[in-house]
Amino acid sequence: MKLPDNEIRDITKLLEEGKPLPDKYRFMLFGDEREIELVWNGKSQEVTNVVMPFQTIEHVDEPRAEEDLRVQPELFDLETGRQLKGWTNKLIWGDNKFVLSSLKSGPLRDEIEANGGIKLIYIDPPFDMGADFTMNIEIGDEVFLKEPNVLEELAYRDTWGKGQDSFLSMVFERLTLMRDLLADDGSIYVHCDWRLNSVLRGVLDEVFGKENFVNELVWKSGVIKGGRGVANKFGKLVDYIHLYSKSRGYFFQSIYKDHDLDGQHNKFVHRDASGRIYSRDTPLGNYSPEKIAEFDARGRIYRTKNGKMQLIRYLDEVKGLSVGELWDDISQVNQVAIERTGYPTQKPEALLSRILEASSRQGDIVCDFFCGSGTTAAVAEKLGRKWITSDLGKFAIHTARKRLINVQRELKVEGKDFRAFEILNLGRYERNFFISGLEEFDAKTASQLERNKELAFNNLILNAYKAEPVSGFRTFRGKKHNRIVAIGPVNLPVSRLFAEQVVAECVEKGVTKVDLLAFEFEMGLFPSIQDDASARGVDLVLKHIPKEVFDKRAVDRGEARFHDVAYIEVKAHLNGLSLSVELTNYSVFYTQGITSITEENLKNGGSQVVVENGQVIKISKDKDGLVNQRELLTKNWHDWIDYWSIDFDFTNRKEIIRIKDKKTGEDKETWTGDFIFENEWQSFRTRQDRTIELKSIFKELPPGKRKVAVKVVDIFGNDTMKVITVTIGEKR
Ligand SMILES: C[S@@+](CC[C@H](N)C(=O)[O-])C[C@H]1O[C@@H](n2cnc3c(N)ncnc32)[C@H](O)[C@@H]1O
Repeated sequence: MKLPDNEIRDITKLLEEGKPLPDKYRFMLFGDEREIELVWNGKSQEVTNVVMPFQTIEHVDEPRAEEDLRVQPELFDLETGRQLKGWTNKLIWGDNKFVLSSLKSGPLRDEIEANGGIKLIYIDPPFDMGADFTMNIEIGDEVFLKEPNVLEELAYRDTWGKGQDSFLSMVFERLTLMRDLLADDGSIYVHCDWRLNSVLRGVLDEVFGKENFVNELVWKSGVIKGGRGVANKFGKLVDYIHLYSKSRGYFFQSIYKDHDLDGQHNKFVHRDASGRIYSRDTPLGNYSPEKIAEFDARGRIYRTKNGKMQLIRYLDEVKGLSVGELWDDISQVNQVAIERTGYPTQKPEALLSRILEASSRQGDIVCDFFCGSGTTAAVAEKLGRKWITSDLGKFAIHTARKRLINVQRELKVEGKDFRAFEILNLGRYERNFFISGLEEFDAKTASQLERNKELAFNNLILNAYKAEPVSGFRTFRGKKHNRIVAIGPVNLPVSRLFAEQVVAECVEKGVTKVDLLAFEFEMGLFPSIQDDASARGVDLVLKHIPKEVFDKRAVDRGEARFHDVAYIEVKAHLNGLSLSVELTNYSVFYTQGITSITEENLKNGGSQVVVENGQVIKISKDKDGLVNQRELLTKNWHDWIDYWSIDFDFTNRKEIIRIKDKKTGEDKETWTGDFIFENEWQSFRTRQDRTIELKSIFKELPPGKRKVAVKVVDIFGNDTMKVITVTIGEKR
């Protein structure tokens, strides 16, 4: 396009002055076919193409056996550590942006396509600002509010930092990746409410094409109860679910529901002599005379007084009512529902059942990249679909793990098939992933970080840890007394590779004691990484960085406590060739909510639950403002335990990852040096049953020396592992 000289001059001047261009130039400068387009601050068509390897953290093949187990024939190829059976469902911990790009362009894509591709995606992104990371956790009779951890807070800021603008950027990129992953005959359901409904339609039109819009479903999720009606508007009652297809040739199966015989519009009000219920008010419409004669001969025609003919339809012969766009027959998960997990944004299984039945067949792969409590996966398993689901919250992954094990247990009891599932991590193999993308916390910290992100971040941590900075090292950042200090990334969990790099530098420089500080550690990292370090002469201590490092007041008061990772004690019980494991102690050292600050801020007559150095304490103030009670809620060490499980033969299955060789494009299999935890027995608390067993069943094992791994997940959703060596069949 040729612009007049004066316009070119104006544009150049504005650009030189760093000012925004008036809107009219947008369409003049960038030729575009789109007639209507949704624009927001920060919109970009760029989509990540990062591929990271998926690491298998845990494999759940067989829900727990209720009786003592006998030796079973091998299910696995010991040479390669590979499962010999077909598809394994996938529960993936990580930001779905990288999960999606790694699925799209990584080696797992071939496996997905070999299984027919992804036929259905349901997503329920966090459309209610802040609803997902703060969670009520039960301890005895008390409820304790778990605050988001640093990683969750960062994700929250990514999504909501600039309000709807940043939400749209987040979801636009993910939807684009999902479109690329979806099979040609696949569909996507996107759940939202009034807050984002209008803009999400625009985004979906752009990503999937207006021509692929199928339905806007209205789900009546709420009920107006007394006080909830508001004076100046109608009560809010519904959520919206947008259904788009990848192409016009998508799979769809109509859904029918039972006739409501008590309903206002019920037409099945007649009974014949045998008691069969029928309706007789359907006009014959376009039926041919032959067809009508045939109906008549079968006694299926009713004649009204004025001679009109109506078709008689028996209730037991009709399919039911075809379900339309208004879904008012599925209620929210209520307080006492069996399916309730306690996850704040959990959706009802009946909703997902309807979606899965309409848009997928048995054996199809169904995905949910905002897994939450795992509703989609649970329903998929029950309906015989394969599934992939992901979430970046550890607590969500843990909630889903328990739920999915329960589904396996239920199906097993009913004698039905169920599939194995694995819990995967995204492996991070490039150093720049640790450094880049450092995010802000508050305005002051942010401006400080801006100058030199990594250095400023490290100094902040070192100051709170009371360590001195050191320079000239690859991974060392500080020194405290006679120990070297390394610091993990702010925005990602510490991975095995990161920890290995620290240990390698220790060995190289003759350092024997090192503290590795991090907000989060990859699942299953310890204790093996510490054992490996110790074998190389390095005492590696892993410590959690508290959130209080960003709170100057807490740092100045010395209340930013770096706590150790949890500690487990177990005891092996042998009976001939059978082994049972008992959990004998567990300690955590968390702190959440500084007690002195809580005491100061507490209202008279109020109470609050805090965690101080691994103890959950309820602090109460009387009506005169005196702190008159500090009640210890965690009375026993096992109050902390939400879940524990055992792999009776930890080293029999190596963790193999597949990476595409950049030069040849071929997939390469590499052993990470770690093993996959095979979840063979587990005990956990549910909302319905808060008890937990502390001793496992006896499992018969082949004679010899073996490593037994015990994994414990605490009530915060954090996991720790302990590996013990046991000799089976040894004379005692
Ligand atoms: C509304 S909840 C989903 C609830 C779910 N439908 C259920 O029935 O339990 C949204 C979930 O998305 C997760 N989430 C938010 N941002 C994410 C991201 N970038 N990657 C993966 N998960 C994310 C949150 O942790 C939260 O669990």
